[in-house]
Amino acid sequence: MRVLVIGANGLTGQRIVKLLAESAHDPVAMIRDGAQRATFDELGVPTVLGDLEYPIEHAVRGSDAVIFAAGSGSSTGKDKTVLVDQLGAIRSMVAAETEGARRYLMLSSVGADIQSESRIAHYHRAKGYADEHLMSTDLDWTIVCPGGLREDEGTGTVSVGEDRFASGLTSRDNLAATLVACLDAPNTIGKRFSLLEGETPIEEALRSI
Ligand SMILES: NC(=O)c1ccc[n+]([C@@H]2O[C@H](COP(=O)([O-])OP(=O)(O)OC[C@H]3O[C@@H](n4cnc5c(N)ncnc54)[C@H](OP(=O)(O)O)[C@@H]3O)[C@@H](O)[C@H]2O)c1
Repeated sequence: MRVLVIGANGLTGQRIVKLLAESAHDPVAMIRDGAQRATFDELGVPTVLGDLEYPIEHAVRGSDAVIFAAGSGSSTGKDKTVLVDQLGAIRSMVAAETEGARRYLMLSSVGADIQSESRIAHYHRAKGYADEHLMSTDLDWTIVCPGGLREDEGTGTVSVGEDRFASGLTSRDNLAATLVACLDAPNTIGKRFSLLEGETPIEEALRSI
């Protein structure tokens, strides 16, 4: 599959692109700044410029799948959270529908909920609205909800579950590997699940959901 990675230059996005480049899939990295190209050139991965605050149909065109790994981050204002994590995400779903990229994988978060009252409710609500929109589409979607992201080396083992409000940690290595593995696990279509540290090999964990 030709897979567009949105947020490809991010800490998780770069891991996703690298794993895809080593797989049978063909990644395309969506980046915001041409200066970020070198990382992907080294991997032999094509790039396309795109910003979620503007139309991105051109970036999605020709893709079979989209992995959304972008986010406005914690150092920007709450307006950017809505513009990128909520509206930008929904924009990418509309583009996927318009351009025929049927498979859509969302990197969400535990706690994502449109009625969140958490300490970072603006973020959890934005992610919640994006998730709700995705679930209302006809796309072949999967929503992966990690806990607090860590730079720890991936173990290849995780814990998956239906409790979207579970608390815990998730290594970005394991998160990237899980998102990529979902592409080859059709049983994950139409599923939203939490992803935390655990002892179950990723493929086995995905078979169980
Ligand atoms: N941090 C946590 O503990 C945690 C927990 C659960 C879920 N999450 C979710 O996981 C996501 C990925 O985390 P991460 O740490 O890998 O993120 P990251 O390193 O901050 O990467 C986010 C990426 O999004 C891109 N981006 C931001 N605004 C954009 C826009 N307008 N258009 C296109 N791309 C844009 C950034 O581009 P540039 O490289 O150009 O800046 C960056 O590459 C987060 O965004 C969050 O939603 C995080």
